[in-house]
Amino acid sequence: MTNLTYLVVGAGQAGGWSAMTLRKLGFEGRVVLIGEEAYIPYERPPLSKSVLSGESDLETTYLRNAAFYETERIELRLGTRVAAIDRGALRVELDNGESLGYDKLLLATGSRVRKLSLPGSDLPGVHYLRAIDDMIAIREELKPDARLVVVGGGYIGLEVAATARKLGCQVTVLEAQDAVMSRVVAPDISRFYADVHEQRGVQIRTGITLSHFEGKEHVTHVVCADAVAYAAELVVVGIGILPNVDLARAAGLEVDDGVVTDEYGCTSDARIFAAGDVTSHWNPLLERRLRLESWQNAQNQALAAATTMHGELTPYADVPWFWSDQFDLNLQMVGLPERWDDVVFRGALEERKFSAFYLMNGAVVGAIAVNSPRDVHPARKLIESGNRVDRERLAHEDRLKKLL
Ligand code: APR
Repeated sequence: MTNLTYLVVGAGQAGGWSAMTLRKLGFEGRVVLIGEEAYIPYERPPLSKSVLSGESDLETTYLRNAAFYETERIELRLGTRVAAIDRGALRVELDNGESLGYDKLLLATGSRVRKLSLPGSDLPGVHYLRAIDDMIAIREELKPDARLVVVGGGYIGLEVAATARKLGCQVTVLEAQDAVMSRVVAPDISRFYADVHEQRGVQIRTGITLSHFEGKEHVTHVVCADAVAYAAELVVVGIGILPNVDLARAAGLEVDDGVVTDEYGCTSDARIFAAGDVTSHWNPLLERRLRLESWQNAQNQALAAATTMHGELTPYADVPWFWSDQFDLNLQMVGLPERWDDVVFRGALEERKFSAFYLMNGAVVGAIAVNSPRDVHPARKLIESGNRVDRERLAHEDRLKKLL
């Protein structure tokens, strides 16, 4: 039995997987998992989808049940923030005044929502969606016929719009750019998504600039710069997230737009590791630095970083993968291409079942599959291989697997 103490800061998906991994690998020392939220580690994707709609119970989002942490001797410090890391003394200070010593530490502090600072943006009824408590507050207000204004037509905004529409709300999406989801998808796919939303009764307004929010005790209107006002019983703002790097920066760790790590999850301090949304990490497969906001990154980078922390240098080298569910559409994106010189479609947009393959010099660098989950694995393999593909076969071969 070792008397080492490993602290995991942040009890989200990455923090949870890090702690579990240490135990799975047979680490016998003390594992303390410190998290600001009052909940045991959970996955966030269902919070804008099945849990928000009420189709699934909250408990289905938990990585493991509460008893698991006890059995595994993972000490949970929930509702607790780490206020500072003293790297010289190998201690962290908690916001309750307590301090804890560590031998090694893993940062999984994740990210927070980007907020608006406009007149009235603090009014009750103006929500953001990141944590379980946010979801509960929104769910209480999503009554049939309630007028919901969604600010931001990204993943979060459109998923909430689809869920609310299914619950019978009247939904308007206000997007600053000229197209929805423009950060993540090409224009034709963006148009396809906007059309589907409009067919389902969601009003989409692009190219808008917000001015302010009106209301006394509660928001009543969202007003745009062109003076058009949208009546609202509630507003959900989904305009992106920011990594929680403050703790790392204050401790003097190397930070750019995230906590800088190599492919093994090591930071600039040999005793400190990091995983999840908060990292700006080296991806050896793509040969560049990435900060990813994804389920896959939260889980798999945590597995690698915790294994490295346990003493076995383990790289995290996945092709990035994201998904979004809106109405009856399942979108999965693999790869993160910066450039492409060709796009090959399989299937047709009208059939609501298609994939778009992004190619550079004849090789697949990214793919977006809509209601085509079977294309996802081959797409990932094609990206990993870097091999040139036959574009005719890519478009028409009945089983993509045959191209591998
Ligand atoms: N007014 C209206 N729209 C805005 C404004 C604004 N002031 N500022 C930004 N937007 C738009 C952006 O143009 C973009 O389309 O909000 C959208 C935000 O989309 P994302 O960047 O995808 O962020 P979000 O939808 O909040 O998702 C946050 O959660 O589910 C995960 O993977 C998802 O990483 C993402 C994160």
